[in-house]
Parts: sequence; structure tokens; C-alpha cells
Amino acid sequence: MAKFRSESLGREWLELTESDGQYGLAGLGDLSFLKSLQQSRELVGGWASVDDLKVAVASFASNSIFDLMMREVLQKATGEWQEPFTEDELCHCRLVPTVVVDSAILAGAHTPEEVSRQTNASTQCGTCRPDVEKILAARLR
Ligand code: FES
Repeated sequence: MAKFRSESLGREWLELTESDGQYGLAGLGDLSFLKSLQQSRELVGGWASVDDLKVAVASFASNSIFDLMMREVLQKATGEWQEPFTEDELCHCRLVPTVVVDSAILAGAHTPEEVSRQTNASTQCGTCRPDVEKILAARLR
């Protein structure tokens, strides 16, 4: 069985599994997240190949946390996912780990200013701001 997972520092997580050509979806989040998960399970039941997953990415086009995580697990499953920033610590001045910035973006911080307000990243020398922008550009549509 193959597993493709997306998770945040909050309670949200999403996992796409594949076993013998059958796809499954599991996850946890708030009520809105769980409703999206339930609706998406109907779609997932119709997927039978990687090509189906590539087409399905377009169905998750919003910047809601659910769609952001769905795009991540789908792209991981199709081999198209690329981590936008691979160092553990993104902001060295404020000692902000990359996972904190990424989780803030998943949770709704969709501008560099919102990321700074919520995480303290990019609030001193500013040299990490392009890295924040790189993650925003990779995550958001
Ligand atoms: S490295 Fe992030 S503000 Fe300096």
C-alpha cells in the first residue's frame, strides 16, 4: 500500500492511499474540512490510475486548507510534488521553522505580511522573505 500524506501543525491531516489500483482518502480537520473530505471520497472512489489523479488536481482549485492539502497529496501520488523550501529553519533571525510557516499558510496566512504576523518570520533582516514568498507561490493558486 502506498500512502501520500499532508499535515499541518494544527489538527488537520489528509492521507491518500493506494492499494491494488484502489484509492482511499482519510483525514481530520474542522467541520468544513470534514464535509470536503466526505464529498471528495465519492470522487476518489472513481479514480483508477495516476492519470485520473492528474486530472483530479484541477477539482481542488481553491486556497482552502482542504484543497491545499488535496493538491499536495495528489501531486505526491503523481510524483509532481516539489517541496518549495527544504531547510528545517526558514527564518534564522526569529528561529522560525519552515513547518511553522507552511502550517500558517495552510491555515490561511496567504500573504507575506500575514505570515509575518502569525509566525514572526521575516520581521527582522528580511532576507527570508523570498523563501516565504516561494512557499506561498508554490502552495497558492
Ligand atoms: S532571516 Fe528572517 S528576518 Fe532575518
